[in-house]
Amino acid sequence: MTGAQSLRVCRGGVILLLAAGLIAAVNAATYMVGDDGGTWTIPATTNDLNYSSWAAARNFRFGDELIFRYSTASHFVLLVNASAYETCLLEDPLDSYASGNDTITLNRPGMRDYYFVCGAPSHCWLQQKLQVTLVGSVPDALGVPEGASTPPPPSAASPRPPASGPVTLAAITALLLLFLTSTLT
Ligand SMILES: *[C@@H]1O[C@H](CO)[C@@H](O)[C@H](O)[C@H]1NC(C)=O
Ligand SMILES: *[C@@H]1O[C@H](CO)[C@@H](O)[C@H](O)[C@H]1NC(C)=O
Ligand SMILES: *[C@@H]1O[C@H](CO)[C@@H](O)[C@H](O)[C@H]1NC(C)=O
Repeated sequence: MTGAQSLRVCRGGVILLLAAGLIAAVNAATYMVGDDGGTWTIPATTNDLNYSSWAAARNFRFGDELIFRYSTASHFVLLVNASAYETCLLEDPLDSYASGNDTITLNRPGMRDYYFVCGAPSHCWLQQKLQVTLVGSVPDALGVPEGASTPPPPSAASPRPPASGPVTLAAITALLLLFLTSTLT
């Protein structure tokens, strides 16, 4: 490969990486928790709410937003850990929200599972609780992606560990551009 070629490949890779980042940012989805209108309340036969099936029907990714809408007279939102979620422990949550119109961004470093419960007494026991598990990569505190969001294509014979997401993407992009360059010239 000539110097000019490698420069072109390198620049192309950078541009594609920037584009990928832009697409990821633009693609961050916003979900109204609950039914179509968005409701955070106690599931009942009259409202047909089921937060586990609601969550199961969706693919949440790092950076997506959840909007909780509810009457502040009756409900609020706690972000808790897994054991507090199971036992409906309302003390010392990781975070709490009470505006009645809370936008919560799923972008905590290293956190793949988010556990929300209503903080009003007994509501958690009545299944007003929501667990969201992110698909795709979740960066840790240093911004290093973890998990298998972009499984490498079968042809990628790179010996790099899969933990290096952007590096792998850059390598694949460079290989692709190299391939295109060599076929077009
Ligand atoms: C939600 O649906 C699941 C099955 O998809 C069921 O196991 C669970 O009991 C339901 N929860 C409520 C609150 O109805
Ligand atoms: C989970 O959170 C509760 C407080 O809600 C705390 O008492 C408990 O130690 C936490 N458990 C873990 C494993 O972090
Ligand atoms: C909820 O908050 C969003 C901004 O986060 C705002 O655009 C929207 O109008 C609010 N909706 C209500 C019903 O307050």
